[in-house]
Amino acid sequence: MEIRKITILGGYGREGQREPLGRLDLKMGDVLSIVGPTGSGKTALINDIGLFANDNTPSRRRILVNDAPPPEQLTDDPAKNPIALITQHTSFLSDLPVNKFLEIHARVRKAAGRTPVVEETLEFANQLTGEDIILESSMTELSGGQTRALLIADAVVIGNSPIILLDEIENAGIDRTKALELLRRYQKIFIFVTHDPTITLFSDYRVVMKGGAMEAAIVTGAEERRLAARIKAMDGLLLELREKIRAGEQLREDLFEAHLREMISGEKTR
Ligand SMILES: Nc1ncnc2c1ncn2[C@@H]1O[C@H](COP(=O)(O)OP(=O)(O)O)[C@@H](O)[C@H]1O
Ligand SMILES: [Mg+2]
Repeated sequence: MEIRKITILGGYGREGQREPLGRLDLKMGDVLSIVGPTGSGKTALINDIGLFANDNTPSRRRILVNDAPPPEQLTDDPAKNPIALITQHTSFLSDLPVNKFLEIHARVRKAAGRTPVVEETLEFANQLTGEDIILESSMTELSGGQTRALLIADAVVIGNSPIILLDEIENAGIDRTKALELLRRYQKIFIFVTHDPTITLFSDYRVVMKGGAMEAAIVTGAEERRLAARIKAMDGLLLELREKIRAGEQLREDLFEAHLREMISGEKTR
């Protein structure tokens, strides 16, 4: 079945209050962020989506696919499940070498032309992580960042999942802006639970959570989009400083200030 859109029908917050945002429609290509303080219900919301909740979770939300309750095959057959959920705690329960694992997954998923798919997955993953993944290394040897990068690449390229949920991956050691840039090339629904301004402002819109309920949806307007590019430049600066320290260099105040001046004038973003 081809998924064109999914809908979240609001239920109730933690105190039993009706959710202020009663309905949310997501269509292919949309990038959504879910924001809110710790404990506000962000993870519960994406779990509801991942489970195709149908008035059977504490929130009593319901998820529709193409304006109707999802057909059973979608929810019952893992091979047909259109949703990939990646969290900070997701890991591989396999000590196969990376290439064997990807080949097997590609075969199960019947992904076209197996070897190019494996290569594309690895290339994608290696753009997300600073430390290149070696095809022959075993899955259990991968670092946290490499694991997350490979999971995302695997879900996008081999799994070809139309809906990808990412719960707080900013702390998982992957390049966030690179990830967003790459993901944008695929026609999918991406939902990020995030505290990160770059990810949030590069999303089309965001849902604000409060007390377990969807409080409001905010569309990223022109002003925030302009700021997004400049915040990305700040991110870049921090990344650069981190790399220099790692490489054993010493930081210089004059270079730092020159960088800041460029950033404030907006030159770095043009
Ligand atoms: N709508 C809801 N109804 C009932 N319990 C909820 C609801 N939303 C969240 N919870 C519960 O509140 C707690 C915190 O929610 P969680 O989703 O983990 O927050 P966050 O991810 O924003 O830190 C969890 O125990 C969760 O099960
Ligand atoms: Mg959470």
